[in-house]
Amino acid sequence: MPVTLVVGGQWGDEGKAKIIDYLARDVDVVVRYQGGANAGHTVVVGSEKFAFHQVPSGILYPKVTCVLGGGMVIDPLALVAEIDGIVSRGVDTTGRILVSAQAHLVLPYHVLLDCDSEDRRSDGGIGTTRKGIAPAYADKARREGIRMADLLRTPASLRDLVSDRVRENNRILKARGLKPLSPKKVADSIMAARARLAPLVADTRPVLWDAVAAGRRVLCEGAQGSLLDIDHGTYPYVTSSSCTAGGAATGTGLPPSAFDRIVGIFKAYCTRVGNGPFPTEETGSVGEKLREIGREYGTTTGRPRRCGWFDAVAARTVVKLNGMTDIALTKLDVLDTFPSVKVCNAYRMGKRTVDVFPADARDVEQVTPKYETLPGWKEATAGRRLEDLPRPAIDYIRHLEGLVACPIHLVSLGPERSAMVRIPRGPSTALGA
Ligand code: GDP
Ligand code: IMO
Ligand code: MG
Repeated sequence: MPVTLVVGGQWGDEGKAKIIDYLARDVDVVVRYQGGANAGHTVVVGSEKFAFHQVPSGILYPKVTCVLGGGMVIDPLALVAEIDGIVSRGVDTTGRILVSAQAHLVLPYHVLLDCDSEDRRSDGGIGTTRKGIAPAYADKARREGIRMADLLRTPASLRDLVSDRVRENNRILKARGLKPLSPKKVADSIMAARARLAPLVADTRPVLWDAVAAGRRVLCEGAQGSLLDIDHGTYPYVTSSSCTAGGAATGTGLPPSAFDRIVGIFKAYCTRVGNGPFPTEETGSVGEKLREIGREYGTTTGRPRRCGWFDAVAARTVVKLNGMTDIALTKLDVLDTFPSVKVCNAYRMGKRTVDVFPADARDVEQVTPKYETLPGWKEATAGRRLEDLPRPAIDYIRHLEGLVACPIHLVSLGPERSAMVRIPRGPSTALGA
């Protein structure tokens, strides 16, 4: 079955979009399965930089159909603006974007409630992207959401639905001391979005089933990362969707048996934006250096990302959780100037040594990483071919493969499309013994 899944292995921003862009050259359909405008997916093509938030990162290839899956929560106004932005840069999106009728809408009250929840928390909050994600998924779970299918109602019925929801949510906004929203204004804006988006709304499940049955290649694009997964991440410091492989089935309607390749994306070090435990975080000069060289500032919010060394305990747990078949390692070039590189290969928790990422974030807060130090390569790797990579860089790649028990098949050495090295599959790997 020709379905490949690309899933973030850390706390998001691993460089998923760059890998999706690389793999999308050879596919027919790219489908996002969860999240919403909280994602920031960067693709660099020559001197052009694109940042996608809700539109799948395959949109730059004219033959690719892009599907926004049913597991997403979609901000309709932001989606219209994003499509307009893409079109204004010369990309023809006509007939190439489909939106699942099952996806939920993010409405202005979701954004206000998200911001308010963050502002009220004395501990600094979760550090959300303030895009209304948690309130929108909460409404979905409460069965009070509005879905893309609702855009296909008669105008009067849609207006009534939106106005009713705004009035209900105004009670909550007022109880929290916030200004209520105008039901008419919100309904007007949704009607405007309806005019643009209704033609894109479809039951995308048969589209995907038929594509798979016809042998067309389908790529599923994960947003966020496995350690931000609502169940498997560092709860409550997580996002509100299933970012891990399981979510790709429910979020697209493709059965789990359809996936034959699950590519985990890992940076050669770790970053996290927002709050919550991060065992290998470096708060001093090492973290600063990673941030500056790696340009670790949020694509969606511009916030500085917290940085630290590669965490093989978290990574090997995530490999198992997702059933990853292979790994794309990104941003190896960021380590080029470090005299040595550290990798966390186990945690110490009290007197115990732990080699599985704990299920409870409070335990993750208690662990102390055990590190090993490897020699750096102190040479520029950007633009190099596999056979020209410095020996210590190859040793680093091989060492990570061993620690996480999953083969690394792609190594990214710069933001540009061309800065990519493929390591051939098979027992006699080109990395040598
Ligand atoms: P995503 O959310 O996982 O798609 O990742 P983001 O786009 O939020 O963040 C990754 C950042 O790293 C972007 O600015 C990319 O252009 C950049 N990037 C991706 N791969 C590489 C790489 O191999 N080296 C360097 N230096 N930058 C990269
Ligand atoms: P991509 O797809 C990095 C983080 C937020 C916060 C937590 C909850 O670009 O990798 P939310 O707004 O989802 O309720 O925030 O999740 N977060 C991300 N961090 N990359 C992302 O997306 C993220 N999307 C959400 O910073 O800690
Ligand atoms: Mg990102």
